[in-house]
Amino acid sequence: MKPAARVLHDADDLRAANARLGREISEAHPDGVLLVAVLKGSVLFLADLVRQLTVPVEIDFLGITSYAPDSGRVRLTKDLGTDLTGREVILVEDVVDTGLTLAYLLAQLRARAPASLEVCTLFDKRARRIVPQPLAYVGFEIGDEFVVGYGLDFRGRYRNLELVAAGDVDTLAADPDAYVGELYP
Ligand code: IMP
Ligand code: MG
Repeated sequence: MKPAARVLHDADDLRAANARLGREISEAHPDGVLLVAVLKGSVLFLADLVRQLTVPVEIDFLGITSYAPDSGRVRLTKDLGTDLTGREVILVEDVVDTGLTLAYLLAQLRARAPASLEVCTLFDKRARRIVPQPLAYVGFEIGDEFVVGYGLDFRGRYRNLELVAAGDVDTLAADPDAYVGELYP
């Protein structure tokens, strides 16, 4: 029998985290912020987060593809349409795992001379970090497990779940739809 998926955070947890992060960001940036989200995983998080901000906010998107998992070799597939010069910028990520992707993205953005550059991530897999990264805003710390839902996918599946669940990677690799039956109502 396959290992069951485990719900880590339900919709109420996620709402509470967004409310807290919205307060923290609004307090730190009374003059407003530019949120830069990384496609595609951060899209649901971004959409809920911006509605919790009480300061002026603009959004923009970066598209990336990884050449190989955990290699840190990332390529931009979609660049920003916004000039970052002098802006207060927050990079919005779904999950920071090894930190390699973030290291690449932060270097790219820093070169564009923003007034400030911080990171907001929904999940922080701190135990897996290879490149240490300062994370100004964190939704939840999670352990070394593979999570899906609320933007996070396995081969494109599960992004539209309103909860976040940990699944067994070998089970998913054998059948990407293995958890569809139990995770969708
Ligand atoms: P890093 O370069 O190892 O920090 O990789 C971060 C990226 O890997 C994230 O932005 C996700 O796209 C992906 N990722 C890492 N862990 C997970 C997970 O548990 N579920 C789904 N995607 C993940
Ligand atoms: Mg990502």
